[in-house]
Amino acid sequence: MKKVITYGTFDLFHVGHLNLLRRAKELGDYLVVAVSSDGFNAVKDKRCAYSCEDRCAIVKAIKYVDEVIVEERWEQKAEDVRRLGIEVFVMGDDWKGRFDEELKGLCEVVYLPRTENISTTSIKIEIRKGDGAKG
Ligand code: CTP
Repeated sequence: MKKVITYGTFDLFHVGHLNLLRRAKELGDYLVVAVSSDGFNAVKDKRCAYSCEDRCAIVKAIKYVDEVIVEERWEQKAEDVRRLGIEVFVMGDDWKGRFDEELKGLCEVVYLPRTENISTTSIKIEIRKGDGAKG
């Protein structure tokens, strides 16, 4: 069984997240998603609308996702890959090249193109402007 892993915050779950998870699952048979903890987001200076518990529950309910773990710190990726027997590490291409060195020799590293014109940040900005509804 080919295991794939990906990492993210997945706040205000949107279609860009869904596309990323679908394409990640297509690269193997079993998809693990590591969702950033609230403490890790604080370290990254990122504030979420949804708690880690809720973000994990939403991601877990996606049909492409087999397992959810929590990401607590930057250094855990190589450990997760070893511990879980991961063959493919996937991230959106906003992270291109960033994990090549760290994961060299451990697994394949793939950067998938992001879905255009959507992000949690842009959704928050549009809603703040009162422009939330499209069409
Ligand atoms: N992602 C994607 N396409 C998008 C938005 C996100 O493929 N339009 C991917 C990211 O590249 C990442 C994963 O989804 O691999 C989780 O991204 P996350 O940072 O949680 O979502 P963003 O919408 O980018 O959030 P933010 O605006 O807060 O950075």
